This record gives sequence, structure tokens and C-alpha cells, in this order.
Amino acid sequence: MKFYNNVLELIGNTPLVRINNLTSEHHIKAPIYAKMESLNPGYSVKDRIGVSMIDWAEKEGALKKGGTVIEATSGNTGIGLALTAAVRGYKCIFVLTDKVSVEKMRYLKALGADIVVCPSAAKPGTPDHYVETARRIASETPNSFYPDQYNHPANPAAHYRTTGPELWRDTDGKITHFVSGIGTGGTITGTGRYLKEQNPDIKIIGADPYGSIFKTYKESGRVPEATPYLVEGIGQSLPVGNADMKIIDEIINVTDRESFELARQLSRREGIFCGGSTGTNFAAALKVAKGLDENAFVVFIVCDTGEHYLSKFHSDEWMKEKLLLEPQRITAGLIAETKDSSSPGSLIFVSPDETVSAAIAKMNESGITQIPVLEDNRSVGSLRESRVLAKLLDDRTLLESNVREVMEESFPVLDVDTSLNEIKAKLHQSPAVLIEDFKRITGIITRSDVLDLQR
Ligand SMILES: Cc1ncc(COP(=O)(O)O)c(C=O)c1O
Repeated sequence: MKFYNNVLELIGNTPLVRINNLTSEHHIKAPIYAKMESLNPGYSVKDRIGVSMIDWAEKEGALKKGGTVIEATSGNTGIGLALTAAVRGYKCIFVLTDKVSVEKMRYLKALGADIVVCPSAAKPGTPDHYVETARRIASETPNSFYPDQYNHPANPAAHYRTTGPELWRDTDGKITHFVSGIGTGGTITGTGRYLKEQNPDIKIIGADPYGSIFKTYKESGRVPEATPYLVEGIGQSLPVGNADMKIIDEIINVTDRESFELARQLSRREGIFCGGSTGTNFAAALKVAKGLDENAFVVFIVCDTGEHYLSKFHSDEWMKEKLLLEPQRITAGLIAETKDSSSPGSLIFVSPDETVSAAIAKMNESGITQIPVLEDNRSVGSLRESRVLAKLLDDRTLLESNVREVMEESFPVLDVDTSLNEIKAKLHQSPAVLIEDFKRITGIITRSDVLDLQR
């Protein structure tokens, strides 16, 4: 018989998976392996600390039967704690920021937790900040345990006891570089410490979003002003207790664009469906591996699953809205679908049998200066306000004529899959293009819509 006594026994012992297509595309000789923490039962590296911090609290008497676990989390630690709490019968309250994806919030609720959402703009130390809020709720809730993952020793200890030994064992001691993001610092500190004890030559590399303080802090001891970035779960605006800078050899900064692009490529080209911080780690791993040969053995952490970000960077619409989408994926259909969130899908047009005055009224009402003329959902012509007004100067009676009599040639009609470059080429000749899907006109793209993409 093979079975597990509960879901917590599935945590850890995650496999290493070699990266193939993306390394050969980048002409990288050094092998790079992904440590698949997304295969934990809560789909992230944080399951390990969820169980280890609750184990500590039970042992130390900090958490008693029927107690409540309260934590500030970017989601994944909450999921790890909630899994453990579900198995062992505790309640949970998690305090998150509004930057956390809706998928993680729903997941936490599905696991039975209560959640409190704080503004991500709140500065550390102020009452609205998510860590301060969690602390306050914990102080007001009887029989509660506030793990404080940023400082709790059971966080790095979990990685010292499990993640580090797994990597040493599974690489036969051949690992040369370990790459991890730094959120609480638990993963990099605990794993790095164990690996350095086995072989001090192993390089521990931190992957940090531009905007976070860790690179400057490590290199100069100075804490710079943090600036916002979109990747979740890693980087900080202040130093944290569990991030031991002495364990880390080098910190590499990575942009949001690169993190999301590489996370998307890991999914598409390697089948490794992962979150944005995994993209940050992989970007740093690629940079490190560039200067190495076949004898190196680079491992990066796959922190969590892409399922948590389906409404965020795994969606083309979200990427386009954040001006992060690769140009070749920006198609006519995507631009038309997402350009006007106030009236999605409503294409403004006139029919050739309407009067010119009705057409002008329609343009004025909608604040547009050109309008397609459609008949039976096919494009038969166009009107441009400036040219119609010029004609009216000579002959005011045209106001009561049919649009058919004054209209000009149709705007170019492009298929939904037309690329941004082709759209731009057409917009050099025409103020707008129409989008056709299955032989029906479904949208319009103007020059200013394309300018909006390049803000
Ligand atoms: C998505 C994600 N990646 C990476 C990390 C960083 O791990 P650590 O806190 O061990 O530094 C976290 C931590 O919250 C996370 O949620």
C-alpha cells in the first residue's frame, strides 16, 4: 500500500527539471535546472514554512487547540499556513495588500481563511500597512499566533532542513549556483546556508526586481527609496530579519517586463507553468549561466504556479494594459477588444441611408472625428468630419443628403490577427482601420489607440 496520512506529507522533495529549449535559444552551455516548488500541495515554495512555523508554535505552546493563525502575506505563505491549519483544525486570518492577485485571495478563502486587504501604497510602519495591520489584529485576537514570516527562525530553518539537503542530494553535490528571489529571505538564507556548509564555493545568487532595495543594500549597506514594481512575493522596501545578506554572493536586478516575459516563455516553451517571481529567478539564472560552461550546475526556484496569475501577467489583455506585451502578440483583435473599457465592443458607425446631419450629430455626441459607413455589417465607405465640413461650406443643403452621396472610400479592413506593425503601416495612409472577424466588422482602431499603447 502507498498512501499519505495527510496532505502535509506531500510537501517538499520537489523534483529538478532541466531547461532545454530556452537555454539552447540563448546559446547557454551550462545546464540550468528548475526546482519545482510549484508541485507542492499548495503550489508554492511557502508550503514548507507554513508547516514549519505551525510546528514551532505547537511545540513552544504558542498555538493551542482552536487557536487562530494571523499573518501578513503576499498570499503563498497564507496558503501554506491555511493547508496546515485545515489539517490541524486552526482558524486563519490573513492580511494582504491590494497588489495580490484575486486568484490567491479566492484560494485563501476556499481554504477557509478570512482575509483583510490593505493598500499596497501604505508605507512600512504606518497603521494601514499590511504588516502593522496583521500585528494589530493578532494583538486583539485571543489565542492567536502571529508567525511573522519576515523574522521567524522557523522560516529559514525549514529550507535549511529540507530545500538545501534536497538540492545537495538530487545534484549529487554538483550544484554550483543557486538562484532565488528574496521576499522574506527564508528560501535563499536557509537553502544558501546549508549549501555553503557543504561546499563554500557554491554561489548563492539573489534575483531582485528593479525598485526593491536588496541589491543596493547588499552592495553599499545603504537603504534606497523603493519604487513600485508588479512582480509579487519578492523584493522589499526595507531590510528584513530573515534575509541574511552575508549568505548571498551577488544580487541581480530584473525588470517586470523581463520577469513576466520569461515566466510566459517557461510556460510556452518548457511547459513549466509558473508565477512572475519564477521569471525573475530564471532571468537571473540566464545571466549567471551566460558566463559558465558545461561543468556548471545552475538551479533556480520555481516559486509558485501560473494559476495564481491567470487574470494578471498570463493574460494578454492585462499585459497590454500595463504596456508589457511583446509587440508580436499585440494583434488588431486584442487592441480593439481592450481599447475602450467604458464601452467594450460598441462600434460607432452610420448607415449609407442616414442623413449627413445625423452622421455629424453622431460624431459630435461620441467625440469622434471619423466614422465608418456600414451596410449589412460590411464596410462601404467612411466619413471624416473635416472633409464633410469643407464640402458643407460650399453647399449647406448637403446636410439633408444621404451619407452615401458624400462618403469617401472605406477605411482599410484588417483581419483580427493582423500584427501591430501591419496596423501601423496602414495608419500612415488612413486615420483608422476596421477589424474583421469571420467576415463581420467588429471594431475600429484609430491612430490615437495605437499611440495609447506607447505611452
Ligand atoms: C511568489 C513568491 N515568490 C517568491 C517568494 C520569496 O520567498 P522567500 O519569502 O522565502 O524569500 C515569495 C514569498 O512570499 C512568493 O510569494
